[in-house]
Amino acid sequence: MRFDVITLFPELFEPFLKVGVTRRAYETRLVDVRLWNPRDFAEGNYRRVDDRPFGGGPGMVMLPEPLERCLMAIRADRAEAEAAPLLLFSPIGPRLDHPAVAQWSAGPGAVLLCGRYEGVDQRFIDRYVTHQISLGDFVLSGGEVPAMALLDAVARLQPGVLGDEGSHQQDSFNPALDGLLDCPHYTRPEVWREAAVPAALMSGHHAQIQVWRRQQSLALTAQERPELLHQARAAGRLSPSDEAFLDGLAAKGQGPQP
Ligand SMILES: C[S@@+](CC[C@H](N)C(=O)[O-])C[C@H]1O[C@@H](n2cnc3c(N)ncnc32)[C@H](O)[C@@H]1O
Repeated sequence: MRFDVITLFPELFEPFLKVGVTRRAYETRLVDVRLWNPRDFAEGNYRRVDDRPFGGGPGMVMLPEPLERCLMAIRADRAEAEAAPLLLFSPIGPRLDHPAVAQWSAGPGAVLLCGRYEGVDQRFIDRYVTHQISLGDFVLSGGEVPAMALLDAVARLQPGVLGDEGSHQQDSFNPALDGLLDCPHYTRPEVWREAAVPAALMSGHHAQIQVWRRQQSLALTAQERPELLHQARAAGRLSPSDEAFLDGLAAKGQGPQP
């Protein structure tokens, strides 16, 4: 899959693409990331990419012309029969979540547009942007961090990227975990500041460990994200033993509110 990133700060991506468990996905082009700077498509001595907003007010707005030339160069380079989707990172879009990441990670890629300043001229958005994605209800200085978040989440879902095949399936929100939160994790030392590792994890008994992990996921999800539990139940993903465990939690006053 191929992602073309339109950014005024391509240098932000260079270290990101070179470190961590996802590095090989980028290096081998399993997830092929190409960086494009709209300034390279701007005209004049100053290579302007922004200008003052009509109607006044603070800040600058990204000019449509350099963005359009940049996008046309990307489309020519991708040479696809059908234009790739153009994602704009913006507080306006739906919040990025696991189903969206899973969808992008199963597709051929996209063009990612990182806004800066007050944002992008609306006429460019109306003409070319096919999707808007938000990282959350707060404002960042640019779309680069959300773009890296999407690329990282997509890369780790690619087969073989994580050392332990299938380990992403044990992560929070994954359908393999029925969309629940992941359980807590422990490592050495066995006792740290008088807190011992839970006995079940030290038992060496695989089935017992699995039950403990499932129950921890259920309890944590019930406490922190009850709506995920309701979704799992509605989708028929909770077993009778899950329900019995949750009934026990509710009886102790630790279950989710209906
Ligand atoms: C300073 S922000 C512009 C904010 C805009 N004036 C507003 O109030 O919605 C500059 C750029 O950062 C990116 N950005 C900011 N917050 C974001 C968020 N929560 N999710 C995704 N992108 C965001 C967008 O690309 C945006 O164009």
